[in-house]
Amino acid sequence: MGLNNKFSEHGQKLLLQHGGNLEQEANRLKVNISSLIDASASLTPFPLPPNLQKCLSQGVNGTALKIYPDRSYLRLREAIGKFHEVDSSMVLPGNGASELITWAARDAAWHGVSILPSPGFLDYKRALRCWNGKFITCPIPLKWNSFFPQFFPLKPHENVIWITNPHNPTGQSWSLNSLKAMLSSQSLVICDEAFLPLVPDGEKESLIPFVAHYPNLIVIRSLTKLFSIAGLRLGYAISSPRRLQQWQEWRDPWPVNGLAAMVGIKLMEDEDILKTQVKKIQDWVKVEGEWLQTNLQKLSGITAHPSATNFQLIESSVSLTHFREALAKKNILLRDCRSFNELGENWLRISLKKKSDNEKIINAMQQVLSCIDE
Ligand SMILES: Cc1ncc(COP(=O)(O)O)c(C=O)c1O
Repeated sequence: MGLNNKFSEHGQKLLLQHGGNLEQEANRLKVNISSLIDASASLTPFPLPPNLQKCLSQGVNGTALKIYPDRSYLRLREAIGKFHEVDSSMVLPGNGASELITWAARDAAWHGVSILPSPGFLDYKRALRCWNGKFITCPIPLKWNSFFPQFFPLKPHENVIWITNPHNPTGQSWSLNSLKAMLSSQSLVICDEAFLPLVPDGEKESLIPFVAHYPNLIVIRSLTKLFSIAGLRLGYAISSPRRLQQWQEWRDPWPVNGLAAMVGIKLMEDEDILKTQVKKIQDWVKVEGEWLQTNLQKLSGITAHPSATNFQLIESSVSLTHFREALAKKNILLRDCRSFNELGENWLRISLKKKSDNEKIINAMQQVLSCIDE
């Protein structure tokens, strides 16, 4: 097999592991990207706040693209530290949460065996494989109620636990009380809080206040989800200064580009932007999430699982592969769950959109289901 074929085969595999493959899907369906409703990637459906748009264009017209960013990202670290009430030495910005997951995995590989709750975010495996890190997957129950936050269902006995709060792909949020216990029992606790700012009242369950007392704790955050800036790439880790200093020495210089750093400083220093966005998004999750859940529950043959955040799982007793494809033909993309071993083809993940799109999704689902029934 030629190298190009191998590369594209690998590309196809990667496509299945993540939602939001808009360009490929648009090509496959022979439509414009703009005509697709993408409920496969869990991004918020609102435009960038005007002051951030202004900041970006100032960056493009100013020096942000011309000069190297400050290699220590001091101002950005200070702004994030101030927001979370931790010292700036406990903050490391990264090229999205994904970059920081790679470095967390290097530490995890050194500590021993990682426990990965399963089904779970697939990128942890990718990151552990970079460093030949050992891991075992531990199944979490696939039935849960609608009372959030919930008790974290695993009692790990290995060295490293990877927590996603709220959990991806199930959308469950975990209670701080159930997570705290692991800080004393595990040699390393990695908590990915990429979606926590989107969860109504979610901040109360954050492990960030514990970082100062537990050097074995790493919390990872993303700004990708909250502001829908997946293309800009901006996340940060909060952990012990010694650990972050080590990561900083290992990694490439300037992993956060000048524009991303500028936007990060703007939105972390100007707390109004962040607080307004958080309120807007949490209100949307509350109102639209409830609407979607209620309407999904009315669909025959589909079980809609409850969620604390902006995506949720649906399940059927039969394969949903054709159902997903029929929706794609109506320009609606849902997340294929075949890459999650414990889920497979009877499950799909659906992301919350704005009201008019949520209505289109429900209408299209009703139409497809009624054709299947006939
Ligand atoms: C749970 C979780 N953590 C982290 C990420 C990666 O975020 P970023 O875009 O900041 O790299 C994702 C992206 O889908 C995610 O689902």
